[in-house]
Amino acid sequence: MISSVAARGKFITFEGLDGSGKSTQIDKLARGLRAHGVAVTVTREPGGTAAGEKIREVLLHSTTAGLSPMTEMALMFASRAQHIQQVILPALAEGRVVLCDRFTDSTEAYQGGGRKLGTKAVLALHEILCDGLQPDLTILLDNDVAFSVERARRRNRRDKAGRGGKDENRFEQENRAFFGRVRNAYLAIAAREPQRVQIVNARGTPQETHAAIMEMVKKRVRSLGNL
Ligand SMILES: Nc1ncnc2c1ncn2[C@@H]1O[C@H](COP(=O)(O)OP(=O)(O)O)[C@@H](O)[C@H]1O
Ligand SMILES: [Mg+2]
Repeated sequence: MISSVAARGKFITFEGLDGSGKSTQIDKLARGLRAHGVAVTVTREPGGTAAGEKIREVLLHSTTAGLSPMTEMALMFASRAQHIQQVILPALAEGRVVLCDRFTDSTEAYQGGGRKLGTKAVLALHEILCDGLQPDLTILLDNDVAFSVERARRRNRRDKAGRGGKDENRFEQENRAFFGRVRNAYLAIAAREPQRVQIVNARGTPQETHAAIMEMVKKRVRSLGNL
């Protein structure tokens, strides 16, 4: 069963709007933990496996704008189910710390909130397709919508190659109201599950945010408390 296997490692997820700094902070945390000799696996959703990366392309490419919200949600979970079996559970079974860029909270925020499919459908699918696997800790990088969107746009303009030269702009084309619903859904998850989800102010410098995250990880993940 998932729960007993997962008990050995630590599963930490990063959430937040595009441009909130997830990739930047995962990279810093991975370096910080590895410098202390911790075995770290860095991965992402949608994606993380060969099949998942193909699904990611369908999900994020600007030419697939016609995906129905239900299709979008189903594909997110298809990628996730494969990712859990192929990457996350094996790494946790080895006792590794898994840092995952987005997980089911993203589906609840974007498809549940942004696309208005609701929380219930997302949580039901999570129960069935992911056997209810929960992160030990979720870092929610929170910021004003305008701030995050502007950061993401600047990054995408400046650095098309920064995303492997891939077109991953489909969500970027959504409007401000959409991202407002996404952010509100994230904050609702944090209010519902305060033990698991820690909100981090994403407005500071990368180093300030990293320091806050490192403290949180040490405090919340007992096995890393002595780093
Ligand atoms: N704390 C920060 N202050 C200023 N710019 C940042 C900060 N964190 C990240 N950035 C920059 O903002 C852009 C988006 O950050 P990124 O880590 O890619 O966000 P995400 O993975 O959440 O989309 C990148 O160009 C990154 O270098
Ligand atoms: Mg990123």
